[in-house]
Amino acid sequence: MLNWNIRSSHKVQPDSKVFEEAVASYQKTISSDEIGFFRLPQNQELIAETKKVFEHFKHKRYFVHIGIGGSALGPEMLLSALGDSSGVEFIFINNIDPDDLCRKLEKINIKESLIYVVSKSGTTAETVAGMSILISMLLEAGIKEEEFKDYFVFCTDPVKGELRKLSKQWDVRALDIPSNVGGRFSVLTPVGLLPALFAGIEAEDILEGAEDIQKHLQDPKIGAEFFNLAFWIKDLHDQGIHQTVMMPYSSLLKEYSAWFVQLWAESLGKEEKGLTPIPAYGATDQHSQMQLFMEGPKDKVLMLIEVEKFQRDFPLKNNLECESFKNLSSFSLSQLMKAEFEGTLTALKENGRHVVHLKVPCLQAEYVGQLVLFAECLTVMVGELLKVDPFNQPGVEAGKKYANQWLKNHS
Ligand code: PA5
Repeated sequence: MLNWNIRSSHKVQPDSKVFEEAVASYQKTISSDEIGFFRLPQNQELIAETKKVFEHFKHKRYFVHIGIGGSALGPEMLLSALGDSSGVEFIFINNIDPDDLCRKLEKINIKESLIYVVSKSGTTAETVAGMSILISMLLEAGIKEEEFKDYFVFCTDPVKGELRKLSKQWDVRALDIPSNVGGRFSVLTPVGLLPALFAGIEAEDILEGAEDIQKHLQDPKIGAEFFNLAFWIKDLHDQGIHQTVMMPYSSLLKEYSAWFVQLWAESLGKEEKGLTPIPAYGATDQHSQMQLFMEGPKDKVLMLIEVEKFQRDFPLKNNLECESFKNLSSFSLSQLMKAEFEGTLTALKENGRHVVHLKVPCLQAEYVGQLVLFAECLTVMVGELLKVDPFNQPGVEAGKKYANQWLKNHS
């Protein structure tokens, strides 16, 4: 089971009234019908529908995923963490850089592709642009509109939006992002589950892991530790410690940091409050950002994730006489990772830095599910304490509005 420990000299005695109010409000939020992310592991219908679509299209060789923000970061994170054993080639169209897109599209055979268009709103310009380019490719390849149902699957709001309308018009299969689940909280919906199935990942194990952490957090002792963690983060925030480093000691969790960045930034950064997330991964960033984390401004909380057991390993045994080789010879690569992790943890503590040590037994689907729901719950609880709404993103909407205005003015 995922566990965590605060490694810091900063102790808090939560103000009981503020604390109790925030906890009550959090409990109300996660069980309310308006907010759906917490109960996704129990939504059997979503996984059943996703599996049906997978069964229908599993012969496809290319999986072209079009989406941005919460509609892309979650699936990319799952595939990076859990791998792709299926032989299907994945292409993520998550931006509107024409040169990058060109490189990506050169790799695919459009006739053997499934194009998965993911947009909760169904109107995001970047996603619509990607989709319109793929439509042109299909038409150029001689595929007619009435055949689009054999190439496209949509993932969108169950009722609203243009993708939903198009799905009816073209008879294209459309999976649901429940109305009460926002983009950055949507990885446990078909947004992440369909790509996971195509990659050969046991999608149900991800959901089971999420369910495990859900139950775990309901245990009174664990729940109290979880609320204390959120309160500790908020207390440090109030003392000017406004940055959060997410640093798993795993290359495969590098995209988890990227996913967390969006979750933390877009959920908590509003009303002139917020915690700036910094993505990192160990041991690589020990040779890059760690100098700053260790001796720079004391304005950061570092969340270090330890993976206890790697699935593979390499002995470092060698017969070389040079000191640096000899020193490693009786160890394995994963033991070196452990040494780097422990060394950094100790040094950070000695330097008076604030660390949260998170630990997962290994990188299997269930533990990735736990990491996902844990981060989502923590985000919501910190949001309650900061008194911001973690589920809206008015700042993003404003940018979208002006971009549309620019397009109108230049048409
Ligand atoms: O978390 C969010 O709501 C956003 O980051 C969205 O995921 C992003 O803006 C894309 O929106 P949509 O899924 O509507 O295309």
